[in-house]
Amino acid sequence: MTGMDKAIGTTLEIHPMTAAIGAELLNVDLAAAQSPQTWNAIGDALYRYGVVFFRDQVLTPAQQIEFARRFGDVSAVPLLGDVDGYAELGEVRKERDQRDATGNIWHTDQSARAHPVRATVLLAREVPAVGGDTCFVSMVSAYEALSDGMKRTLEGLRAIHSEARVLTRYSTADVNLVDEARQPSQATHPVVIRLPEDGRKALYVNPSKTVCFEGWTQKESAGLLGFLYQHAQRLEFMCRFRWREGSMAFWDNYQTWHYAVNDYHGQRRLMHRTVIESALFR
Ligand code: SIN
Repeated sequence: MTGMDKAIGTTLEIHPMTAAIGAELLNVDLAAAQSPQTWNAIGDALYRYGVVFFRDQVLTPAQQIEFARRFGDVSAVPLLGDVDGYAELGEVRKERDQRDATGNIWHTDQSARAHPVRATVLLAREVPAVGGDTCFVSMVSAYEALSDGMKRTLEGLRAIHSEARVLTRYSTADVNLVDEARQPSQATHPVVIRLPEDGRKALYVNPSKTVCFEGWTQKESAGLLGFLYQHAQRLEFMCRFRWREGSMAFWDNYQTWHYAVNDYHGQRRLMHRTVIESALFR
């Protein structure tokens, strides 16, 4: 698809952002009743583009959770504070006097869990005048662009993901790995995963949580992981989203990475986040 597309039987307009990833879905008010064709078209677009964006949405916390529930089971958002008593809605907030920002490293949400969340919905409540964009990478495109030899090398590999990388602020010292069965913040996943809907393959390692390949030391793993991270960050696989108040992003964590750009010190940014545990998008 090159230009704008119209989903059949709906008013929804689909505007792809780059050849590899991202589409803006316009002419839809998510607070209003929508036909089953529209919800299906949104799910299809998410699956096809990895991340979709809406503009000018006016949603209450309950409506944002209801939107997410159309696509799968919605769970509490760990680590982030609840919003208005809704455990399923977390805040991603940076205050004017704060330097650090959540998500300021390439990652995919909750990959250190045995069953990582499938998708994330992020709604902008307050955004800086300029800055605070979010970038996304297609890990399907990154995988497909690898040589056959590299694909064969990665095929049987599994990797260990740990929340400890985040908690130790990405120290270069080895992560102290623990018994996964007793530690919910560590998990092992295939390095190449298959999307459940049609079996397309995606690279599933990320700089935020992946510690090493299973059976390899952390030092042995560093070279190949470093290559994969550098490869995935090619501009050809990427899109960048500029937020406005009321913008909403909806991404598939199985086929993307994202990165919150922290370039707006002195300004406030407040987002509301919902996560979808498991879903089939088509
Ligand atoms: C996140 O990493 O989930 C937050 C992304 C953002 O704030 O743009």
